Amino acid sequence: MHHESYGSVYKFVTSYDFWNRSGLLRPDAVPLDFIIFPNQVGLKEKEAGRNAFSMNGMRKECSLSSIERQAILTSLFTVRMEVMSTNCNALLRSLRRKRSRSEDEYAKPFFKWAGGKTQLLQEFYFRFPAELQSGGLDRYVEPFIGGGAVFFFVMQLFPGKESVICDANEELVLTYRVVQQDVDALIDILNEYQARYDILEEPGRKEMYLKIRSDLNDQRKRFNFSSYDNSWIERASQLLFLNKTCFNGLFRVNSRGEFNVPFGKYGNPGIVNESNLHKASDLLKNTTILHGDFSCCLEFVTDHTFVYLDPPYRPLNTSSKFTGYSSGGFSDQDQIRLKGFFDGVDSIGAKVMLSNSDPKNEDPTDHFFDELYQQYRIERVLATRMINSDAEKRGTISEIVVMNYQGFKPVI
Ligand SMILES: C[S@@+](CC[C@H](N)C(=O)[O-])C[C@H]1O[C@@H](n2cnc3c(N)ncnc32)[C@H](O)[C@@H]1O
Repeated sequence: MHHESYGSVYKFVTSYDFWNRSGLLRPDAVPLDFIIFPNQVGLKEKEAGRNAFSMNGMRKECSLSSIERQAILTSLFTVRMEVMSTNCNALLRSLRRKRSRSEDEYAKPFFKWAGGKTQLLQEFYFRFPAELQSGGLDRYVEPFIGGGAVFFFVMQLFPGKESVICDANEELVLTYRVVQQDVDALIDILNEYQARYDILEEPGRKEMYLKIRSDLNDQRKRFNFSSYDNSWIERASQLLFLNKTCFNGLFRVNSRGEFNVPFGKYGNPGIVNESNLHKASDLLKNTTILHGDFSCCLEFVTDHTFVYLDPPYRPLNTSSKFTGYSSGGFSDQDQIRLKGFFDGVDSIGAKVMLSNSDPKNEDPTDHFFDELYQQYRIERVLATRMINSDAEKRGTISEIVVMNYQGFKPVI
């Protein structure tokens, strides 16, 4: 075993044969030749000539070989890591073993979206169905696409699948369709916005923001979201511009569906990322993009499909200020309806994974999801709640993951 410092991810390259010969592998272990520790877990490089390492809340200092041994003996992959890596590109590169490639190799979400799952990708990776790895699943369906962190991850880690994505938010769906169909024209307009923005100073930038926001809201009243034409390209560019320059990259609308997030005052917001938009466009070429309720995805599910469900959070408490991605909201009745969808997908023979906030974070006696999904496998993973714009209220909370399969567990 040797180790290398790798961006924000530490990578331990091990040899399956070595472990196999050691006699310590469990019978169901699969070949896997690396283990990734996010460095935030507590592993510090060469601290006083030794490695600091924390596991199960206990801080340990030990030499690398002891860590190695500890990893084998305690089934490291099943240990909950305290803070997940948020470096999606580094994670993808590590998992695909493409170490020499540049930071920008992979497409990443182009729309910043509340509830984005980038920080949980590593936890999800260990819970994906084994058939994703073996090639037994040829379709990926994501009915609540949001910013698409999981979509981009899955489609690039396990390429060659056709995919179906959906969202109830028509502005978001419009943007995906423009990136899919007219990325060059979109980039041209964004470049114009970028040039105009760059030469402005305060308060000119804020005025430009407010003008584009009010154009977006005025045009909404007569905008035709049901048939694609050139006006979609202009609207997608307005949305992406606002997403990059608004406060906290939030997408929030009022009861009339008007975008009402204030200006963000960022020094250099990077309005256009051409290469990422091109890569995202390529990835979306083989994707069916739907607008509507999650239920419209069922007809696309086959017994060779992996479905990932990430519905809006069940509010952690009644004072939660985040009112939703659309004026509609997602009630407990919708969560129950979604359970029916989950059952439907299960009965088709597809693999399905769902994530949601854990109501036990606030109220340990709230068994809503445990009861709703009691016949399925339920696990809890740790996340940093990002949705609250009040930094003081961000903290580590648990998220629920529900699966209808046993899954890919690279157990040592
Ligand atoms: C938690 S977010 C998904 C975040 C996404 N996984 C990501 O990484 O960015 C939930 C999404 O569900 C959408 N949504 C709300 N109600 C819906 C419904 N009934 N059917 C489909 N999508 C819905 C929202 O617009 C939002 O984009």
